[in-house]
Amino acid sequence: MTEVGSLDLEALERDAAAALAAAETPAMLDEVETRLLGKRGSLRTVHRLLGALAPDDRVAAGRRLNEVTDRIRARLAERRAALQRAARAAAMLDDRLDLTEVVGGSLRLSTGLGHLHLVTQTRDALEDVFVGMGFEVAEGPESETDWYNFEALNIPPAHPARGMWDTFYLELGEPETALLRAHTSPVQIHLMERGELPIHAVMPGRCYRRDTADARHLPVFHQVEGLVVDHGITFGDLAGTIETFTTAYFGADIHSRLRPAYFPFTEPSAEFEITCTICHGAGCRTCSGTGWIELGGCGMVDPAVFDAVGIDRDEWSGFAFGFGIDRCAQMRHGISDMRVLTENDVRFLRQF
Ligand code: FA5
Repeated sequence: MTEVGSLDLEALERDAAAALAAAETPAMLDEVETRLLGKRGSLRTVHRLLGALAPDDRVAAGRRLNEVTDRIRARLAERRAALQRAARAAAMLDDRLDLTEVVGGSLRLSTGLGHLHLVTQTRDALEDVFVGMGFEVAEGPESETDWYNFEALNIPPAHPARGMWDTFYLELGEPETALLRAHTSPVQIHLMERGELPIHAVMPGRCYRRDTADARHLPVFHQVEGLVVDHGITFGDLAGTIETFTTAYFGADIHSRLRPAYFPFTEPSAEFEITCTICHGAGCRTCSGTGWIELGGCGMVDPAVFDAVGIDRDEWSGFAFGFGIDRCAQMRHGISDMRVLTENDVRFLRQF
Protein backbone atom coordinates (compact mmCIF):
# COMPACT_ATOMS: atom_id res chain seq x y z
CA MET A 1 0.00 0.00 0.00
CA THR A 2 1.38 3.48 -0.85
CA GLU A 3 0.25 6.27 1.37
CA VAL A 4 1.06 9.95 0.92
CA GLY A 5 0.21 11.81 4.06
CA SER A 6 -3.24 10.52 4.89
CA LEU A 7 -4.02 9.53 1.26
CA ASP A 8 -4.05 5.95 0.02
CA LEU A 9 -2.97 6.00 -3.68
CA GLU A 10 -4.32 2.54 -4.45
CA ALA A 11 -7.72 3.48 -3.06
CA LEU A 12 -7.57 6.71 -5.07
CA GLU A 13 -6.80 4.76 -8.27
CA ARG A 14 -9.64 2.31 -7.58
CA ASP A 15 -12.11 5.13 -6.95
CA ALA A 16 -10.93 6.93 -10.09
CA ALA A 17 -11.44 3.77 -12.19
CA ALA A 18 -14.94 3.35 -10.78
CA ALA A 19 -15.85 7.00 -11.43
CA LEU A 20 -14.57 6.78 -15.04
CA ALA A 21 -16.53 3.60 -15.69
CA ALA A 22 -19.67 5.19 -14.23
CA ALA A 23 -19.48 8.27 -16.51
CA GLU A 24 -22.11 7.62 -19.18
CA THR A 25 -21.88 10.81 -21.22
CA PRO A 26 -19.00 13.00 -22.42
CA ALA A 27 -20.22 15.73 -20.03
CA MET A 28 -20.08 13.35 -17.04
CA LEU A 29 -16.61 12.29 -18.14
CA ASP A 30 -15.47 15.92 -18.23
CA GLU A 31 -16.67 16.33 -14.64
CA VAL A 32 -14.76 13.26 -13.46
CA GLU A 33 -11.66 14.49 -15.27
CA THR A 34 -11.84 17.84 -13.45
CA ARG A 35 -12.39 16.06 -10.13
CA LEU A 36 -9.31 13.89 -10.67
CA LEU A 37 -6.86 15.91 -12.73
CA GLY A 38 -8.08 19.50 -12.41
CA LYS A 39 -6.25 22.25 -10.48
CA ARG A 40 -8.10 21.33 -7.29
CA GLY A 41 -8.41 17.64 -8.23
CA SER A 42 -7.41 14.75 -6.00
CA LEU A 43 -4.14 14.01 -7.80
CA ARG A 44 -3.00 17.63 -7.45
CA THR A 45 -3.85 17.50 -3.78
CA VAL A 46 -1.67 14.42 -3.36
CA HIS A 47 1.07 16.14 -5.30
CA ARG A 48 1.01 19.04 -2.89
CA LEU A 49 1.30 16.64 0.06
CA LEU A 50 4.57 15.23 -1.34
CA GLY A 51 6.41 18.33 -0.08
CA ALA A 52 5.80 17.28 3.52
CA LEU A 53 7.57 13.92 3.10
CA ALA A 54 11.20 13.09 3.90
CA PRO A 55 13.41 13.38 0.75
CA ASP A 56 13.78 9.59 0.17
CA ASP A 57 10.08 8.92 0.70
CA ARG A 58 9.27 11.90 -1.52
CA VAL A 59 11.13 10.42 -4.55
CA ALA A 60 9.49 7.00 -4.23
CA ALA A 61 6.04 8.43 -3.60
CA GLY A 62 6.50 10.91 -6.49
CA ARG A 63 7.35 8.08 -8.91
CA ARG A 64 4.36 6.11 -7.72
CA LEU A 65 2.09 9.13 -8.06
CA ASN A 66 3.26 9.65 -11.66
CA GLU A 67 2.51 6.02 -12.51
CA VAL A 68 -0.96 6.28 -11.01
CA THR A 69 -1.58 9.57 -12.87
CA ASP A 70 -0.48 8.00 -16.19
CA ARG A 71 -2.78 5.04 -15.71
CA ILE A 72 -5.72 7.27 -14.84
CA ARG A 73 -5.07 9.39 -17.94
CA ALA A 74 -4.96 6.25 -20.13
CA ARG A 75 -8.26 4.99 -18.65
CA LEU A 76 -9.80 8.42 -19.23
CA ALA A 77 -8.77 8.39 -22.94
CA GLU A 78 -10.10 4.85 -23.34
CA ARG A 79 -13.43 5.76 -21.75
CA ARG A 80 -13.74 8.86 -23.92
CA ALA A 81 -13.14 6.84 -27.10
CA ALA A 82 -15.71 4.25 -25.98
CA LEU A 83 -18.32 6.96 -25.33
CA GLN A 84 -17.63 8.51 -28.76
CA ARG A 85 -18.01 5.13 -30.46
CA ALA A 86 -21.31 4.57 -28.67
CA ALA A 87 -22.54 8.07 -29.64
CA ARG A 88 -21.65 7.43 -33.30
CA ALA A 89 -23.43 4.08 -33.31
CA ALA A 90 -26.52 5.66 -31.73
CA ALA A 91 -26.52 8.50 -34.32
CA MET A 92 -26.29 5.97 -37.15
CA LEU A 93 -29.23 4.06 -35.73
CA ASP A 94 -31.20 7.30 -35.46
CA ASP A 95 -30.42 8.25 -39.07
CA ARG A 96 -31.27 4.86 -40.48
CA LEU A 97 -34.18 4.96 -42.92
CA ASP A 98 -36.58 2.11 -42.92
CA LEU A 99 -37.28 1.65 -46.61
CA THR A 100 -39.44 -1.41 -46.30
CA GLU A 101 -43.12 -1.06 -46.95
CA VAL A 102 -45.64 -3.63 -45.93
CA VAL A 103 -48.25 -3.94 -48.64
CA GLY A 104 -51.54 -5.54 -47.62
CA GLY A 105 -49.99 -7.13 -44.54
CA SER A 106 -47.18 -8.92 -46.40
CA LEU A 107 -44.22 -7.79 -48.49
CA ARG A 108 -45.06 -8.37 -52.13
CA LEU A 109 -42.04 -7.11 -54.04
CA SER A 110 -43.10 -8.52 -57.37
CA THR A 111 -45.98 -6.01 -57.68
CA GLY A 112 -43.78 -3.08 -56.59
CA LEU A 113 -40.95 -3.42 -59.12
CA GLY A 114 -40.93 -0.59 -61.64
CA HIS A 115 -38.90 0.11 -64.77
CA LEU A 116 -37.42 3.06 -66.61
CA HIS A 117 -39.91 5.59 -67.97
CA LEU A 118 -40.54 5.39 -71.71
CA VAL A 119 -38.76 8.72 -72.30
CA THR A 120 -35.66 7.45 -70.47
CA GLN A 121 -35.77 4.20 -72.44
CA THR A 122 -36.03 6.25 -75.65
CA ARG A 123 -33.09 8.45 -74.64
CA ASP A 124 -30.99 5.32 -73.95
CA ALA A 125 -32.00 3.77 -77.29
CA LEU A 126 -31.16 6.98 -79.20
CA GLU A 127 -27.78 7.20 -77.46
CA ASP A 128 -27.11 3.57 -78.47
CA VAL A 129 -27.89 4.31 -82.11
CA PHE A 130 -25.62 7.36 -82.19
CA VAL A 131 -22.79 5.71 -80.23
CA GLY A 132 -23.00 2.89 -82.82
CA MET A 133 -22.49 5.56 -85.50
CA GLY A 134 -19.32 6.85 -83.79
CA PHE A 135 -20.70 9.73 -81.73
CA GLU A 136 -19.72 10.48 -78.13
CA VAL A 137 -22.34 11.45 -75.55
CA ALA A 138 -22.03 14.80 -73.72
CA GLU A 139 -24.26 16.79 -71.38
CA GLY A 140 -24.78 20.42 -70.38
CA PRO A 141 -26.64 22.40 -67.69
CA GLU A 142 -30.42 22.91 -67.75
CA SER A 143 -30.19 26.49 -66.51
CA GLU A 144 -28.22 28.68 -68.86
CA THR A 145 -27.13 32.24 -69.38
CA ASP A 146 -28.45 34.33 -72.22
CA TRP A 147 -25.07 33.88 -73.94
CA TYR A 148 -25.35 30.11 -74.30
CA ASN A 149 -29.07 29.88 -75.04
CA PHE A 150 -29.13 32.80 -77.49
CA GLU A 151 -26.19 35.13 -78.14
CA ALA A 152 -23.45 32.62 -78.97
CA LEU A 153 -26.01 30.90 -81.20
CA ASN A 154 -26.17 34.04 -83.33
CA ILE A 155 -29.38 35.33 -81.72
CA PRO A 156 -28.57 38.84 -80.41
CA PRO A 157 -30.77 40.64 -77.83
CA ALA A 158 -34.11 41.83 -79.22
CA HIS A 159 -33.65 39.71 -82.38
CA PRO A 160 -37.08 38.51 -83.59
CA ALA A 161 -35.75 34.90 -83.73
CA ARG A 162 -35.85 34.85 -79.91
CA GLY A 163 -39.60 34.50 -80.26
CA MET A 164 -39.05 30.99 -81.67
CA TRP A 165 -37.92 29.86 -78.19
CA ASP A 166 -40.05 31.55 -75.57
CA THR A 167 -38.68 30.30 -72.29
CA PHE A 168 -38.72 30.72 -68.50
CA TYR A 169 -36.37 33.32 -67.03
CA LEU A 170 -34.79 32.87 -63.61
CA GLU A 171 -34.61 35.69 -61.08
CA LEU A 172 -30.85 35.57 -60.52
CA GLY A 173 -29.25 39.00 -60.71
CA GLU A 174 -29.67 41.01 -63.89
CA PRO A 175 -33.12 40.58 -65.47
CA GLU A 176 -33.38 38.07 -68.29
CA THR A 177 -29.79 36.87 -68.10
CA ALA A 178 -30.43 33.40 -66.62
CA LEU A 179 -33.04 31.05 -67.98
CA LEU A 180 -34.13 27.44 -68.29
CA ARG A 181 -32.69 26.30 -71.60
CA ALA A 182 -35.24 26.23 -74.40
CA HIS A 183 -33.25 23.71 -76.45
CA THR A 184 -30.11 21.59 -76.19
CA SER A 185 -28.23 23.76 -78.72
CA PRO A 186 -26.39 25.66 -75.89
CA VAL A 187 -24.45 22.43 -75.24
CA GLN A 188 -22.94 22.86 -78.74
CA ILE A 189 -21.39 26.10 -77.47
CA HIS A 190 -20.03 24.49 -74.28
CA LEU A 191 -18.42 21.74 -76.35
CA MET A 192 -16.93 24.09 -78.95
CA GLU A 193 -15.63 26.48 -76.26
CA ARG A 194 -13.59 23.60 -74.84
CA GLY A 195 -11.59 23.85 -78.03
CA GLU A 196 -10.97 20.11 -78.45
CA LEU A 197 -11.45 19.44 -82.15
CA PRO A 198 -12.72 17.52 -84.04
CA ILE A 199 -16.12 17.00 -82.36
CA HIS A 200 -18.57 14.15 -83.06
CA ALA A 201 -21.07 14.28 -80.18
CA VAL A 202 -24.71 13.89 -79.24
CA MET A 203 -26.09 15.76 -76.24
CA PRO A 204 -29.40 14.59 -74.76
CA GLY A 205 -31.26 16.53 -72.05
CA ARG A 206 -34.34 18.25 -70.69
CA CYS A 207 -35.63 21.53 -72.16
CA TYR A 208 -38.27 24.06 -71.10
CA ARG A 209 -40.61 26.27 -73.11
CA ARG A 210 -43.71 28.33 -72.50
CA ASP A 211 -45.61 25.92 -74.76
CA THR A 212 -49.13 24.85 -73.84
CA ALA A 213 -49.33 21.07 -73.58
CA ASP A 214 -51.10 19.51 -76.57
CA ALA A 215 -50.87 16.33 -78.66
CA ARG A 216 -47.30 17.18 -79.84
CA HIS A 217 -45.99 19.61 -77.19
CA LEU A 218 -45.07 19.65 -73.51
CA PRO A 219 -43.69 22.62 -71.53
CA VAL A 220 -40.93 20.32 -70.21
CA PHE A 221 -39.62 17.97 -72.85
CA HIS A 222 -36.37 16.40 -74.07
CA GLN A 223 -34.11 16.85 -77.04
CA VAL A 224 -31.00 15.19 -78.34
CA GLU A 225 -28.57 17.57 -79.98
CA GLY A 226 -25.95 16.45 -82.48
CA LEU A 227 -22.76 18.27 -83.45
CA VAL A 228 -20.00 17.38 -85.85
CA VAL A 229 -17.06 19.76 -86.39
CA ASP A 230 -14.29 18.45 -88.57
CA HIS A 231 -12.44 19.11 -91.82
CA GLY A 232 -14.49 19.16 -95.03
CA ILE A 233 -17.93 18.39 -93.54
CA THR A 234 -20.77 18.86 -96.08
CA PHE A 235 -24.57 18.95 -96.11
CA GLY A 236 -24.36 15.46 -97.64
CA ASP A 237 -22.79 14.20 -94.40
CA LEU A 238 -25.68 15.72 -92.45
CA ALA A 239 -28.36 14.20 -94.70
CA GLY A 240 -26.62 10.81 -94.64
CA THR A 241 -26.38 10.88 -90.83
CA ILE A 242 -30.08 11.67 -90.49
CA GLU A 243 -31.08 8.98 -92.95
CA THR A 244 -28.92 6.38 -91.19
CA PHE A 245 -30.41 7.37 -87.84
CA THR A 246 -34.01 7.20 -89.13
CA THR A 247 -33.59 3.72 -90.57
CA ALA A 248 -31.75 2.45 -87.49
CA TYR A 249 -34.31 3.79 -85.05
CA PHE A 250 -37.69 3.70 -86.86
CA GLY A 251 -37.12 0.89 -89.35
CA ALA A 252 -36.86 0.87 -93.12
CA ASP A 253 -40.58 1.52 -93.73
CA ILE A 254 -40.50 5.02 -92.24
CA HIS A 255 -39.52 7.76 -94.67
CA SER A 256 -37.85 11.01 -93.82
CA ARG A 257 -37.57 14.33 -95.60
CA LEU A 258 -35.66 17.55 -95.13
CA ARG A 259 -37.53 20.80 -95.74
CA PRO A 260 -35.77 24.15 -96.03
CA ALA A 261 -36.11 26.10 -92.77
CA TYR A 262 -34.50 28.89 -90.79
CA PHE A 263 -32.37 28.62 -87.66
CA PRO A 264 -30.06 31.50 -86.75
CA PHE A 265 -27.20 29.14 -85.83
CA THR A 266 -27.18 27.00 -89.00
CA GLU A 267 -26.86 28.00 -92.65
CA PRO A 268 -28.37 26.44 -94.68
CA SER A 269 -30.98 25.01 -92.31
CA ALA A 270 -33.64 22.34 -92.64
CA GLU A 271 -36.47 20.73 -90.74
CA PHE A 272 -36.35 16.98 -90.48
CA GLU A 273 -39.71 15.20 -90.76
CA ILE A 274 -40.82 11.58 -90.85
CA THR A 275 -44.04 9.94 -92.01
CA CYS A 276 -46.64 10.22 -89.24
CA THR A 277 -46.77 6.76 -87.68
CA ILE A 278 -50.28 7.33 -86.30
CA CYS A 279 -52.00 7.74 -89.70
CA HIS A 280 -49.17 6.43 -91.95
CA GLY A 281 -49.29 9.61 -94.00
CA ALA A 282 -53.06 9.89 -94.48
CA GLY A 283 -53.36 12.90 -92.15
CA CYS A 284 -54.71 12.92 -88.58
CA ARG A 285 -55.10 15.10 -85.48
CA THR A 286 -51.58 14.30 -84.26
CA CYS A 287 -49.88 15.55 -87.47
CA SER A 288 -52.44 18.34 -88.01
CA GLY A 289 -53.60 16.56 -91.18
CA THR A 290 -50.22 16.84 -92.98
CA GLY A 291 -49.16 13.18 -92.87
CA TRP A 292 -45.70 14.27 -91.63
CA ILE A 293 -44.33 14.86 -88.16
CA GLU A 294 -41.46 17.24 -87.52
CA LEU A 295 -38.79 15.56 -85.41
CA GLY A 296 -36.20 18.30 -85.33
CA GLY A 297 -34.11 20.98 -86.96
CA CYS A 298 -30.67 20.77 -88.51
CA GLY A 299 -28.17 22.50 -90.74
CA MET A 300 -24.55 23.46 -91.33
CA VAL A 301 -22.96 25.33 -88.39
CA ASP A 302 -23.18 29.05 -89.18
CA PRO A 303 -19.69 30.64 -89.43
CA ALA A 304 -20.92 33.33 -86.98
CA VAL A 305 -21.18 30.59 -84.32
CA PHE A 306 -17.60 29.50 -85.04
CA ASP A 307 -16.54 33.14 -84.60
CA ALA A 308 -18.36 33.33 -81.23
CA VAL A 309 -16.45 30.35 -79.84
CA GLY A 310 -13.10 31.14 -81.46
CA ILE A 311 -12.98 28.31 -84.03
CA ASP A 312 -11.33 29.16 -87.36
CA ARG A 313 -14.24 29.30 -89.84
CA ASP A 314 -11.88 28.80 -92.81
CA GLU A 315 -10.33 25.62 -91.44
CA TRP A 316 -13.32 23.84 -89.88
CA SER A 317 -16.87 23.09 -90.97
CA GLY A 318 -19.66 21.21 -89.31
CA PHE A 319 -23.30 20.27 -89.01
CA ALA A 320 -25.75 20.25 -86.12
CA PHE A 321 -29.18 18.81 -85.44
CA GLY A 322 -31.69 18.75 -82.58
CA PHE A 323 -34.58 16.27 -82.24
CA GLY A 324 -37.37 15.88 -79.72
CA ILE A 325 -36.85 12.69 -77.68
CA ASP A 326 -40.49 12.65 -76.50
CA ARG A 327 -41.53 13.13 -80.13
CA CYS A 328 -39.36 10.14 -81.15
CA ALA A 329 -41.00 8.00 -78.42
CA GLN A 330 -44.40 9.17 -79.61
CA MET A 331 -43.73 8.26 -83.23
CA ARG A 332 -41.92 5.00 -82.51
CA HIS A 333 -44.78 3.69 -80.36
CA GLY A 334 -47.73 5.30 -82.15
CA ILE A 335 -48.82 7.46 -79.20
CA SER A 336 -51.47 9.86 -80.47
CA ASP A 337 -51.22 12.35 -77.58
CA MET A 338 -47.88 13.20 -75.95
CA ARG A 339 -49.50 14.32 -72.69
CA VAL A 340 -49.79 10.69 -71.52
CA LEU A 341 -46.00 10.76 -71.04
CA THR A 342 -46.40 13.01 -67.99
CA GLU A 343 -49.66 11.75 -66.53
CA ASN A 344 -48.07 8.83 -64.65
CA ASP A 345 -50.92 6.46 -65.42
CA VAL A 346 -49.37 3.06 -64.74
CA ARG A 347 -51.78 1.39 -67.18
CA PHE A 348 -50.02 3.37 -69.92
CA LEU A 349 -46.47 3.15 -68.51
CA ARG A 350 -46.61 -0.63 -67.97
CA GLN A 351 -46.95 -1.18 -71.73
CA PHE A 352 -43.32 -0.23 -72.38
C1 FA5 B 1 -34.67 23.68 -82.01
O1 FA5 B 1 -34.90 23.59 -80.80
C2 FA5 B 1 -33.29 23.81 -82.54
N1 FA5 B 1 -32.38 23.99 -81.44
C3 FA5 B 1 -32.94 22.55 -83.33
C4 FA5 B 1 -31.68 22.67 -84.11
C5 FA5 B 1 -30.52 22.16 -83.56
C6 FA5 B 1 -31.65 23.28 -85.36
C7 FA5 B 1 -29.32 22.24 -84.26
C8 FA5 B 1 -30.47 23.38 -86.07
C9 FA5 B 1 -29.32 22.86 -85.52
P1 FA5 B 1 -37.16 23.42 -82.69
O2 FA5 B 1 -37.68 24.53 -81.84
O3 FA5 B 1 -37.81 23.22 -83.98
O4 FA5 B 1 -35.59 23.61 -82.94
O5 FA5 B 1 -37.26 22.07 -81.83
C10 FA5 B 1 -36.71 20.87 -82.32
C11 FA5 B 1 -37.59 19.69 -81.94
O6 FA5 B 1 -37.79 19.65 -80.52
C12 FA5 B 1 -39.00 19.75 -82.49
O7 FA5 B 1 -39.02 19.32 -83.82
C13 FA5 B 1 -39.71 18.78 -81.60
O8 FA5 B 1 -39.42 17.44 -81.95
C14 FA5 B 1 -39.07 19.08 -80.28
N2 FA5 B 1 -39.85 20.04 -79.53
C15 FA5 B 1 -39.84 21.38 -79.59
N3 FA5 B 1 -40.71 21.94 -78.73
C16 FA5 B 1 -41.31 20.90 -78.10
C17 FA5 B 1 -42.32 20.79 -77.08
N4 FA5 B 1 -42.85 21.87 -76.52
N5 FA5 B 1 -42.69 19.57 -76.66
C18 FA5 B 1 -42.12 18.46 -77.21
N6 FA5 B 1 -41.17 18.48 -78.16
C19 FA5 B 1 -40.77 19.68 -78.61
